[in-house]
Amino acid sequence: MALLLGIDVGTSGAKTMLLDSDRGAVVASALGEYPLHTPQPGWTEQDPADWWAAVSSTIRQVLQQAGVAATAVTGVGLSGQMHGSVFLDAAGEVIRPALLWNDQRTGPQCDAINAAAGELLVSEIRNPVLTGFQAGKILWLRDVEPAHFARLRQVLLPKDYLRYKLTGEFATEVSDASGTALLNVPQRTWSTALLDRLELPAEWFPRVVESPEVTGTVTAAAAAATGLAVGTPVVGGAGDCAAGAVGTGIVEPGLLWVSTGTSGVVFASADTPATDADLRTHTFCHAVPGKWHIMGVMLSAGGSLRWYRDVLAGDETAVARLTGQDPYELITAAAATAPAGCEGLVFLPYLTGERTPHPDPNARGAFLNLSLRHDQRHLARAVLEGVAFGLRDAVEIMKASGVPIREVRASGGGARSALWRQIQADVFGLPISTINIDEGAALGVALLAGVGTGVWPSVDAACAAIIRPISTTAPQTAATRVYEDVYQDLYRPLYGRLREQFAQAAGLVARHMG
Ligand code: XUL
Repeated sequence: MALLLGIDVGTSGAKTMLLDSDRGAVVASALGEYPLHTPQPGWTEQDPADWWAAVSSTIRQVLQQAGVAATAVTGVGLSGQMHGSVFLDAAGEVIRPALLWNDQRTGPQCDAINAAAGELLVSEIRNPVLTGFQAGKILWLRDVEPAHFARLRQVLLPKDYLRYKLTGEFATEVSDASGTALLNVPQRTWSTALLDRLELPAEWFPRVVESPEVTGTVTAAAAAATGLAVGTPVVGGAGDCAAGAVGTGIVEPGLLWVSTGTSGVVFASADTPATDADLRTHTFCHAVPGKWHIMGVMLSAGGSLRWYRDVLAGDETAVARLTGQDPYELITAAAATAPAGCEGLVFLPYLTGERTPHPDPNARGAFLNLSLRHDQRHLARAVLEGVAFGLRDAVEIMKASGVPIREVRASGGGARSALWRQIQADVFGLPISTINIDEGAALGVALLAGVGTGVWPSVDAACAAIIRPISTTAPQTAATRVYEDVYQDLYRPLYGRLREQFAQAAGLVARHMG
């Protein structure tokens, strides 16, 4: 038996879990929360010390819950929120709080990088440089906080800071490094061409390995902080998207993963670094050596439903509080009584701007076609449908770039709702399955730790041993026909017609209410 520790440093907290490889079962897991700071509108920051405190305490809790000796842990895998920047000085000390994946402050820097990168965006980076990505954050430090920039000697992604704390090593792996916009994605190495153009020294960036590779072992100081045994191997791991895909078994062409957490992710494994000509989807290295992945990211998927719960579902929330029920169950039960297509009501889910397929920080949400006939049930269903249409936008781009799709696997909070799964199956016109263990990224990196320490010969073998589909929701013909028309005729053209208005509104808000 091997016990494999998977750690996911998320945006709201760190999750640590222990997998028993023989039984394919999670034997212990713990969550540790930490705050997110927004010192200015559009800025998001966290203190890397908070991540380390949560990770070391959840490791201790998991070892205690499982009642196992630390020496029984075969390996550790790290996953986490992608794209963020941890700035370290020559002594390895954190210079300022980390800028996160959803921080929007780097617009001018991203424009400059996109201009400097030119043809490299397609040939090497394979992605546009977006405000959330790490590259812009480094130039922001240079432009806005020169005293901090003068001290800069190492830039790490969030989970790689935890690796540094655990092993003392500066290392990253290909999947997370892809989200910096500084990686040569086809070659799986840093883009020295782009680093040169941006005048960023290559030695500021950690070495890049494949995800299952061992990057170092737990130091005495880290052992004292976490309760792990000195010498426990720590593998590369993966950014939370690639890790979640491994944890859902998305390691071969034909499988598509749709995850609806706060954000929504549509993810396909690919044998080549194929790219949408307009770079609307991301092309990143996969956590499977020699493979890539194509991904669409929607910023407010479950986030839209949470907004609905908090702002428009006062009744359901009050009843849920009194009866001890889950408010989301009451909301989806009401939504189930409205007809597919909501009698023409359409919701645009861009509450925090959008990434795929419209990388536009000014985009906002909208209800189109409200009438007196529409009530709470329609509004709730329109939110579920609007998110499914937004996810379909990414599915369509993938289909058009030749990504084969045989089966869709759903995970995350949204996958727990039978109605939302049915709506997605109907909107995509594809069957949706769920899997036996929905532990996402933490499970994915526990599997990578198993591969790196010889428990399984490959990532494919690890997934085959542990993950299997358990239920399938088939598309219903009548609803699929309705959704096809709503998607093509109403939803799809809507953003294009409103883009100018969104920009106008952003300007107006900045002038009068900023
Ligand atoms: C992926 C992305 C998010 C973050 C936060 O590109 O931005 O999924 O990794 O978890």
